[in-house]
Amino acid sequence: MLDTYNRKINYLRISVTDRCNLRCRYCMPEEGITKLEHDEILSLEDIVRLVRVGAGIGIRKIRLTGGEPLIRRHITQLIAGIREIPEIDDIAITTNGVLFCSMAEELKAAGLDRVNFSLDTMVAEKFEFITRRDHRTEVKKAIFKALELGLDPVKINTVAIKGFNDDEILAFAKLAYDFPLHIRFIEFMPIGDLLFWSQDRMISSEQIKERIEQRYELTPTKLSKGSGPAVYFKLSGGQGTIGFITPMSHKFCSECNRLRLTAEGKLRGCLYDKREIDLKAALESKSSDEDLKKLFIQAISLKPSEHHMNEGWGKDNLRKMSQIGG
Ligand code: GTP
Ligand code: 5AD
Ligand code: SF4
Repeated sequence: MLDTYNRKINYLRISVTDRCNLRCRYCMPEEGITKLEHDEILSLEDIVRLVRVGAGIGIRKIRLTGGEPLIRRHITQLIAGIREIPEIDDIAITTNGVLFCSMAEELKAAGLDRVNFSLDTMVAEKFEFITRRDHRTEVKKAIFKALELGLDPVKINTVAIKGFNDDEILAFAKLAYDFPLHIRFIEFMPIGDLLFWSQDRMISSEQIKERIEQRYELTPTKLSKGSGPAVYFKLSGGQGTIGFITPMSHKFCSECNRLRLTAEGKLRGCLYDKREIDLKAALESKSSDEDLKKLFIQAISLKPSEHHMNEGWGKDNLRKMSQIGG
């Protein structure tokens, strides 16, 4: 379905839980966030029903996010349920990877097509600093496990933070050179736990690209699968790619194809827009599929033309990233 600004909406990102087993400094405080109770979040059956309704208005790609999606109980059943919806041609997750290894085979068997891992540093002490947990080894194993299982493409999300991981840009590029991995540098956004964010910590993708080009030749390319905003480059002679996600320096809102469903069943048109449609309330009042479809259409009609993150520098950020699902 097309929205008011002629954008084709075909991608639904679903946050299946607001909880997480890490505490990334830019996302959550040490004590975590106020956790939603079980009856405050959508049931797996409701999520599958909503995906089916979404498919009826053109949703083709599903991404499960969190918090950390792999801590949601019975996540594999959810994937299997979504897999049965014929219109859905791509099911992906964005995970921190901590629990992935032990679940990888069952996730794939349930119908998971691909996975994006969040990894901001490859240095043990820095990993412990940024996530406030010691799980680097599990994440490393998870990434190679995903490659081994052929969950293609395997992407890595690296939030670029000045003074923290800018000294690892070439190390990440080498990882993409040596392995068929797609490393995406994400510009640091003023959203989440703003105690850690600051304008001084931002690095633009342009600066990162220049640094990589001192060592590698980059040529523009496209990935066969992917529905997100990244722009990709091949490293000449290498196996993987480098991607840039530029919400701050180059807004990609004019090409935005997505809706977001929060764990508590609110449908939103934009990561940064507060307006939401309460689908959980609609489910509780026994709405028909036709009614739910109208609510999807209403959420699409509310999608703003672009975000205004650079204006309030996070002041309008009422929800946490872990609640919206990134
Ligand atoms: P692919 O389909 O694999 O390309 O996935 P994706 O890039 O859409 O998903 P992922 O969850 O890996 O997102 C990577 C990063 O891009 C996260 O930091 C997201 O918050 C950010 N991102 C994704 N969509 C949007 C968006 O609509 N607006 C903004 N500002 N950031 C986004
Ligand atoms: N800026 C940029 N990316 C962020 N993420 C979480 N918070 C921010 C932020 N403030 C990323 C995570 C994960 C993805 C879902 O969102 O690292 O890869
Ligand atoms: Fe968890 Fe992702 Fe937030 Fe880190 S960024 S605390 S992995 S939800």
